[in-house]
Amino acid sequence: MSDRVYIFDTTLRDGEQSPGCSMNVPEKIRMARKLVELGVDILEAGFPIASQGDFEAVDAISREFPWAQVAALGRACTMDVERAAQSLRHARRPRIHTFIATSDIHLKYKLKKSRQQVLEEAVAAVELARRYVDDVEFSAEDGARTDPDYLEEISKAVVAAGARTVNIPDTVGYSVPYEYAGLIGRIVKALGDCAIVSVHCHDDLGLATANSIAAVEAGARQIECTINGIGERAGNCALEEVVMLFKTRQDRLPYDTGIRTEHLYSASQMLASMISFGPQPNKAIVGRNAFAHEAGIHQDGYLKEKTTYEIMDPHTVGVPESKLVLGKHSGRHALKKRTEDLGYDLGKEELQVLYERFTALADNTKGLLDEEIVALIEEGQMAMKVAAD
Ligand code: KIV
Ligand code: ZN
Repeated sequence: MSDRVYIFDTTLRDGEQSPGCSMNVPEKIRMARKLVELGVDILEAGFPIASQGDFEAVDAISREFPWAQVAALGRACTMDVERAAQSLRHARRPRIHTFIATSDIHLKYKLKKSRQQVLEEAVAAVELARRYVDDVEFSAEDGARTDPDYLEEISKAVVAAGARTVNIPDTVGYSVPYEYAGLIGRIVKALGDCAIVSVHCHDDLGLATANSIAAVEAGARQIECTINGIGERAGNCALEEVVMLFKTRQDRLPYDTGIRTEHLYSASQMLASMISFGPQPNKAIVGRNAFAHEAGIHQDGYLKEKTTYEIMDPHTVGVPESKLVLGKHSGRHALKKRTEDLGYDLGKEELQVLYERFTALADNTKGLLDEEIVALIEEGQMAMKVAAD
């Protein structure tokens, strides 16, 4: 079995649909550019039937990044699948991602459908999607709480109907690693080489990353995740965590992703600048304190030999070297250096625009956070574009 794990980013769909995270179409395009730069394998750009904005975002991202593998979500019904297909018509590598709930709880209370009905609708949706695109993913919503025999039956049926990827979400973040790994291992065995098994874990009990990793060890080869772990309720598995786990613990987890990790911090900051919250200070990998050493004993050890307290080099995730606070006394040089550390290569004029905005804001604050600097850069670039049009 290959050691390559595909990173399916759903920041712009599952992430964006959660409270405080909505983004408009230009913001989604900017974020998509960063995700492409980061090297995600599949970029889920929206749920086109849910809103006109989602439809336009999928359409715009497909046009802007024709070679990216762009996915659009739809429930397992004609209306949704056709809308997803329409939104992807300019994508060169489109994926339709269709889903229906499979657990008895969801069938009884939400869908009021029998298992047979759900199976037939899933198969019909996959068959319809295959008329539009070659690359179809099926998700068994609440898969982790679904009867394993039925989950295996429906997984085989959708693959026979043409699905290439079968996703088994832990929709409510209920599973524990060894349990989830057992379920995933069973589906991997049942599908063999006919499809890739994917995982999509929510973080309600703080186990999204652990569950995703356990699933990979059981044979899953796609992880669905988001920048900063944003998503419904407690969020989704955080992209930066699984990627850095593989990179840091190759001895125990010998898997590869195509992620260019040096862009992780800037992706995190860019997202934070667009939505209403950033990662918590102690968030793994991208939090403000993730590489800060405060305690005397720690500082002493760190100064003698970094590896005493640092398991990852901050440069590998693109954390700026300098922890200098940028405030009203900071000059152009320091500002330029920080923009470079944040992944921007600004021209003279762009830097001037940024500097003017920066000094105006810095006059009234104690210092600007990286995410605020990213927001200033993006706003400045937008203003210059509008002026030029
Ligand atoms: O959590 C979930 O089950 C989902 C599916 C639509 C994939 O987001
Ligand atoms: Zn989800």
